[in-house]
Amino acid sequence: MTGAYYLGLMSGTSMDGIDAALVDLSNGEARLLASHCRKYPPEVVDQLERALKLLEPRTADLDELDRLVGENFAGAAIELLAKAGVAADRVTAIGSHGQTIRHEPDADEPYSLQIGNGAVISALTGIETVTDFRTADINAGGQGAPLVPAFHAAVLSSDTENRVIVNIGGIANITVLPASSSAAVTGFDTGPGNTLMDAWIRRHQGEQFDLDGAWASSGKHDARLLAAMLRDDYFRMAPPKSTGREHFNLSWLSAFLQGVSIPANDIQATLCELTAITIADAVEMHAPDTRRVLVCGGGAHNIHLMWRLNENLPDIPVETTQSIGVDPDWVEACAFAWLAKQHIEGKPGNIPAVTGAGKPVVLGSLFKADATQNR
Ligand SMILES: Nc1ncnc2c1ncn2[C@@H]1O[C@H](COP(=O)(O)OP(=O)(O)O)[C@@H](O)[C@H]1O
Ligand SMILES: [Mg+2]
Repeated sequence: MTGAYYLGLMSGTSMDGIDAALVDLSNGEARLLASHCRKYPPEVVDQLERALKLLEPRTADLDELDRLVGENFAGAAIELLAKAGVAADRVTAIGSHGQTIRHEPDADEPYSLQIGNGAVISALTGIETVTDFRTADINAGGQGAPLVPAFHAAVLSSDTENRVIVNIGGIANITVLPASSSAAVTGFDTGPGNTLMDAWIRRHQGEQFDLDGAWASSGKHDARLLAAMLRDDYFRMAPPKSTGREHFNLSWLSAFLQGVSIPANDIQATLCELTAITIADAVEMHAPDTRRVLVCGGGAHNIHLMWRLNENLPDIPVETTQSIGVDPDWVEACAFAWLAKQHIEGKPGNIPAVTGAGKPVVLGSLFKADATQNR
């Protein structure tokens, strides 16, 4: 059996686990062969949370964490292959996003740092591994994000229907996919996806996330709080733009809660509304001719959020990517498998209209499976 097998590894800002997807990328398609999610050990999550919070984590700590995260990413790949019954030598390459620790594309010295050492992953799996996808785009003047739109354009577009893909992870991003091949593919981070809802329920109920949006649906959104949050400059900025937990986090939220007394579940409902309305506004403003909105990422499971999205976009059907036969949980991991293939083939992985880069560039750094070649 032949095929172009690639393996994508992704862990987003939610840090809910490492998603691993084995994908056959022959014939311009992306066929998901097997998938696996490996949870981080709780002590690794603690260390990652600390690294995210510290303004200047000590380099020595970060190096250690870089290796530890690399071992966990390699573990996710190895477990996936065992589950699929596929030998490592059948896989052309791994594309590993890594775990974002910092994303500062607008700093004087712009950078985006993902950890999860590529040399560790390639050595432990025996598969050549592409990592550090964001730096080349930043070097070309871009945001280094979002990077999934090129994959969305390659495999999720339709030549008869204008579509928008919405990926709702910790942060949410949209990809505008016009049916006409001459029209530009655009996209950007709209703002918070699940991250504020996750943080709020964690603080008040000790839950990792709001299952099906049940807690949010038990409250009602507060119009004044929502209006105040919507005045954040990020929502008014013109794309290209990208954001992360450095900006949208509990301290950001706390600033709006000073001196107000709103029940905790109403705040959850307001955070859910904030995610829905900022996505809906982005679609209405940047893709008014959209015929269908397709949602992927963990947010696709949040029933309340999906309902609020539908209500905020009354004229456009909002569904999950499942409605076109694509499992919403694995789109992003598949995207990094695809980005690895682009790297191996020397093809660009960014869309300049999306990231703001000056030109299309090949993304990522390659670690050979045989470590003696990584010099
Ligand atoms: N059944 C569900 N109900 C509500 N939210 C969910 C559900 N399943 C997943 N999620 C949300 O999706 C998030 C994980 O989404 P994911 O796409 O993996 O994000 P990331 O890319 O940031 O890791 C969880 O933190 C949670 O907020
Ligand atoms: Mg995740």
